[in-house]
Amino acid sequence: MVQSVAQIISAPFAPFFAHWQQSGAAAWLPRLRALTQARLQAPRHGDWARWMSLLARLPDIQAHERSFAQPCVGVTSAQPLDAPAHGELRAALMGLHPWRKGPFCLHGVMIDAEWRSDWKWARAAQALGDLDNAMVLDLGCGNGYYGYRALGAGARLVLGIDPGLRFVAQFLAVNHFLRSDRLAVLPLADEDLADQAASVDLLLSMGVLYHRRDPLRHLKILRPLLQSGGRLLLETLVLDVSGDALLEPTGRYAQMRNVYAIPSMTRLQAWLRAAGFRQIELVDLTVTTSAEQRGTDWMRFQSLADFLDPTDLGRTCEGYPAPVRAMLIAQRG
Ligand SMILES: C[S@@+](CC[C@H](N)C(=O)[O-])C[C@H]1O[C@@H](n2cnc3c(N)ncnc32)[C@H](O)[C@@H]1O
Repeated sequence: MVQSVAQIISAPFAPFFAHWQQSGAAAWLPRLRALTQARLQAPRHGDWARWMSLLARLPDIQAHERSFAQPCVGVTSAQPLDAPAHGELRAALMGLHPWRKGPFCLHGVMIDAEWRSDWKWARAAQALGDLDNAMVLDLGCGNGYYGYRALGAGARLVLGIDPGLRFVAQFLAVNHFLRSDRLAVLPLADEDLADQAASVDLLLSMGVLYHRRDPLRHLKILRPLLQSGGRLLLETLVLDVSGDALLEPTGRYAQMRNVYAIPSMTRLQAWLRAAGFRQIELVDLTVTTSAEQRGTDWMRFQSLADFLDPTDLGRTCEGYPAPVRAMLIAQRG
């Protein structure tokens, strides 16, 4: 049978789509499929072809044990790889540099990513508890690290979406070894899901809100996607001050060009209420340190330590308050 380009592009996601079709969110499927095919058929990233050829050459290694519930999401084989095979695998995965989210441990190769995403997940997991067969949407999911952890915590299916094609390529590389058909990272953005039917039990929006020019719009897109009784876990930069306040950086914030709004807790809770969320609870407030976000072999560009004022670590190099992240849980009202 001759396969169409659309079928070839969708092939890695087909088992996930089959599960999604059987779920309460089946109504989303035509749009998920059509947008994924459209974006991957005409990818807007000059490295996409190189990444795909790299993926096509990844070795097939029999998985012995997979671990999604451990900080280093990973897989082992019955026999450890010999040194040349280990070197080749490491070099192939390095071809997808920079790795922002991790760690992953794939057949003896540890991807020590820029972020200790396991630390953020530990904070989230403590607040969320057992995910008990939940349907999860991770919006702005990066390479899917948290999706694996959600499966490890009991989720039934996890849809990750992220417009960054490098993250999609990294997911496909990792999942070549982890072989989960319960998680996908699709090249979509929040606006792509606006007005889809209420279907998911848990929505993760972590590190996305401050990248949106209109944060309230982001929250308003999220609420209708949740089933009644569904929960949102929102993690974002905040100003650690009392009362109503909003920082709208002019120019860069900690060297990032796309940080538009950092609210106080009072302002953030008002946004959540305005978007229709109720029972809003602050579950964590953490100062980001250069132990959690740092340069490694797998992320060789500058990192947080380079973005803070060396004479005052409480300030960014632009003179703004240094990053503090709040994690909140809210219910669909
Ligand atoms: C700071 S990273 C956070 C990644 C991950 N959620 C975490 O907490 O570690 C922000 C992510 O949001 C994605 N993103 C940016 N705009 C988005 C949008 N409109 N919809 C969905 N994701 C978006 C970026 O590509 C990036 O992967």
